[in-house]
Amino acid sequence: MTNSITLSAPEYTDSDFQRLQAIARAQAGICLPDTKKALVYSRVSRRVREMQLSRFKDYLDFATGSSGAAELEKLICALTTNVTGFFREKNHFDHLKAEMMPDLSAALRKGKRVRMWSAACSTGQEPWSLAMSVATSFPEIGSYDFRVLATDINSDVVARAESATYAADELEGIPERERSLFLKEHDGGYRFSEALRRLPTFRVMNLNAGWPFRGTFSIIFCRNVVIYFDDETREALWQRLAERLEPGGFLYVGHSERVANAKQCKLINIAPTIYQKEG
Ligand SMILES: C[S@@+](CC[C@H](N)C(=O)[O-])C[C@H]1O[C@@H](n2cnc3c(N)ncnc32)[C@H](O)[C@@H]1O
Repeated sequence: MTNSITLSAPEYTDSDFQRLQAIARAQAGICLPDTKKALVYSRVSRRVREMQLSRFKDYLDFATGSSGAAELEKLICALTTNVTGFFREKNHFDHLKAEMMPDLSAALRKGKRVRMWSAACSTGQEPWSLAMSVATSFPEIGSYDFRVLATDINSDVVARAESATYAADELEGIPERERSLFLKEHDGGYRFSEALRRLPTFRVMNLNAGWPFRGTFSIIFCRNVVIYFDDETREALWQRLAERLEPGGFLYVGHSERVANAKQCKLINIAPTIYQKEG
């Protein structure tokens, strides 16, 4: 315990939780069901204590007040769930290598620009798995016009992802071959090699706000994030993502997710959790 932390549990009422539900919804599109009341307490109370406040109400007044922008960002970070893993839902990476990489490699060789997007990248395991998959299929990738865009609303996880550094016990899921090809010992842990680090670009970005980039993608991974959104937000996001997919490009979604408005989005469900843009 440090002196800067108030010891008693901060006051947390139903009305505080309702305000938090409204903030998460308005700022990030995240729906917090009533069953999450205790979970939200455990995630946010630390910030309330660190600010020496004894009531959630005072904390929320500050975070939503005229000088609370930085705290509001921290609050949104605290409300996100960041579970992820290297090569999570491995079938997606197998599909990418077998079905996409031959065509993408040929296109790259002809000088085409190829972009992939890990939308909601959390601590980076997803975009780094994409980068490893591409680099094992096409070892000369560094000489071509290829990038992986990796975005997330949570600035803390984006910073972690960009550091490219993981502890030994976080490497689970990375096959031996990829470990030896792409990871180097670094500061008591491991860091992705310089060559691999040239492939991804990391940005803090809210999927449910404006997207500050143009251009389209051959591949979009948007996995295990829309489960936190309501149907309307989800369908609007699928529509926007589909508009950013090149004809013939692929959208990969999480194992418990589906694109309910696939037809409207011109997406064909070619395998469970994998969609291809028409054309
Ligand atoms: C469970 S993780 C999924 C990570 C990765 N895609 C995977 O499947 O392993 C969900 C991520 O979505 C991010 N997220 C939640 N709402 C978001 C939003 N509105 N815009 C961008 N990212 C968001 C969270 O910060 C979190 O890192």
